[in-house]
Amino acid sequence: MEKYERKGQIKYTRTGTPTLLQYADEMPGVPLQNIWTDIPPVNPQARERVGYPTQKPESLLERIVTASSNAGDIVLDPFCGCGTTIAVAERLKRQWVGIDISPTAVNLMRRRLLEATNGAVDAKLIGMPTSEVDLKRLKHFEFQNWVLQQIVATPSARKTHDMGIDGLSFMYHEPVQVKQSEKVDRPVVDKFFTAIKRTDKDTGYVIAFSFTRGARNEVARLQREEGIKIVLITVAELLLASDAITRPDREPTFDVAKPSGWRGPSRDHKRLLQALKERAGLPPIQAPPANTMPSGKALVDSVRDS
Ligand SMILES: C[S@@+](CC[C@H](N)C(=O)[O-])C[C@H]1O[C@@H](n2cnc3c(N)ncnc32)[C@H](O)[C@@H]1O
Repeated sequence: MEKYERKGQIKYTRTGTPTLLQYADEMPGVPLQNIWTDIPPVNPQARERVGYPTQKPESLLERIVTASSNAGDIVLDPFCGCGTTIAVAERLKRQWVGIDISPTAVNLMRRRLLEATNGAVDAKLIGMPTSEVDLKRLKHFEFQNWVLQQIVATPSARKTHDMGIDGLSFMYHEPVQVKQSEKVDRPVVDKFFTAIKRTDKDTGYVIAFSFTRGARNEVARLQREEGIKIVLITVAELLLASDAITRPDREPTFDVAKPSGWRGPSRDHKRLLQALKERAGLPPIQAPPANTMPSGKALVDSVRDS
């Protein structure tokens, strides 16, 4: 005690009980073992949570990155999910490369980095869908998410999804349905009309690769007779409108032929896509609700199938 007393390491409580001050760097500690149980999973209320089903805690990646690299080194995560590794690597002054098979995940990564760095770091995206052909090749879930992210919509929970509403548009919260098909016909319009009628909205959007004349006639009839406006938007129009709104004076992002009669984004396109302008084309941070996301296992299985 006298030795510690001389070093100023004994502190006394108000009632006079002595306690020894110990400093972490003076204790050898126990090296980490193979099984780590001291890092809890991401808490549902945590600020770092972005809603990705298999998101790992930043403190876990911080330990791995710190233990295995130095500032300036390049960190690679080829299964990067919502980008925990690259967010941590950026903070720890590493260079980084993140890879994921899912465009939904890549958009989340980009947004997460932008938010974490107050807009200072915008990732360079490589291999994202840029044409109708690319979008046709996506799995249905990815296509739907890609479109909803593109228009900054909120993905629906499963209950509304069952009624044919895949998401709600930015700000106006109008129903949006996404179809990864050509020649979407009248029955789809009629079903969507019923779904819109159950909401308090009088406008909805269907996005698909193409629509039949029957579908367009039905849309006109419903507006005339029922006062409900259903806007049919082709994927080509969506891509062209998106470029026209976000990159009017720059190289377009999307490789798409102009449909005959295309005269630039219509009022409906602008209403649906206005968030793009406000947010400078950023995809939204939120992941789809957990009950519409495939589990980690389903994601892995879907890749195994393809
Ligand atoms: C367990 S999650 C990663 C979670 C990540 N550590 C995080 O904190 O968000 C695995 C990821 O691997 C991706 N994936 C699966 N197969 C892949 C493949 N063949 N190439 C690239 N990514 C793949 C999935 O889309 C999923 O996002």
